[in-house]
Amino acid sequence: ARPIRVLGIETSCDETAASIVARWEDGAVQILSNIVYSQIDDHAAYGGVVPEIAARAHIEALDGIISAALEAAGTPLASIDAVAATTGPGLIGGLIVGAVTGKAIAAAKGVPFLGINHLEGHALTPRLTDDLPYPYLLLLVSGGHTQLVLVRGLGDYERWGTTIDDALGEAFDKTAKLLRLPHPGGPSVERMAARGDAKRFSLPRPLRGEQRLDFSFSGLKTAVRLAAEAASPLSTKDVEDLCAGFQAAAAESLGDRVSRALARFTREFPELADKVLAVAGGVAANAAIRDALSHAGAKYGVRLLAPPHALCTDNAAMIAYAGLERLEAGAYCQTSASVRPRWPL
Ligand code: KG4
Ligand code: ZN
Repeated sequence: ARPIRVLGIETSCDETAASIVARWEDGAVQILSNIVYSQIDDHAAYGGVVPEIAARAHIEALDGIISAALEAAGTPLASIDAVAATTGPGLIGGLIVGAVTGKAIAAAKGVPFLGINHLEGHALTPRLTDDLPYPYLLLLVSGGHTQLVLVRGLGDYERWGTTIDDALGEAFDKTAKLLRLPHPGGPSVERMAARGDAKRFSLPRPLRGEQRLDFSFSGLKTAVRLAAEAASPLSTKDVEDLCAGFQAAAAESLGDRVSRALARFTREFPELADKVLAVAGGVAANAAIRDALSHAGAKYGVRLLAPPHALCTDNAAMIAYAGLERLEAGAYCQTSASVRPRWPL
């Protein structure tokens, strides 16, 4: 029998992506193709994503990326069973490009169109890669989001905590920028931190010990700025030590917040045999961050599940997969779905 095939489209930020995900009759999921075009070079000169440039770049790239995804999957457009596109949250220009393109393809082929919440894509990724049963706890740490979400089921999400200021990836990026390290900042900071002394500068651990499950990183970023100004002009050694100090403080603060969430998770689901904390988002690539998370997990008997990096960062396979689950749950065609720049899970 032929599998169900969903074309996924992702254009909410600075990646233009398309993917084909299939479900076989025996239940197995397969990523037939996963093409991501990163606009990083288009935005590099500006030190961040410029919405207008992003929208134009999506318009130019998307058709080619969709063709490449179909070709890599060996799937003609005629064999697609549904089209799923991110309709929020994100930058409105890019969202419109992806949604309009997806709806046009769906209408032309007479298949359902599904508008997908980008965060749901991240939230369901552990089921795409590891066939993980509900429920599980998800930590999303990207450039735009820092959230702890209890994933109870499809469309059944409970947000336990979020950042009250900067996202963690944003804090990495801003720290890199103020230390004049190349964009994207996360990998630059991690590289410098590897040679630095984390104890030299004393930096705050935001919200450590607090009852609530929220996050905060802007105070830490400001503390790095003040320390950098005091130590200026900065030697390479100073920058390495500041990066190491920042990364250690961020990892410790995150680990503390997540520990609290894990305590609640094990309290609420004492019976659950395989307790899982899944991570998603670009910051999950950071080894110090992962260490802090597996430490926290070990304390509570919770297993850390980090999908492959390419599926943790923005991609269209997660959007196709969310579309697939929704299709299987009986979702109908949503050609009238509008885009939502703000759209909490
Ligand atoms: O998930 P993602 O690719 O895009 C979205 O923001 O949706 O995440 C990108 C973020 C950026 O802020 C980047 O600096 C951060 O993830 N990042 C890292 C590392 N690699 C990427 N942060 C810390 N350490 C890394 N190795
Ligand atoms: Zn994302």
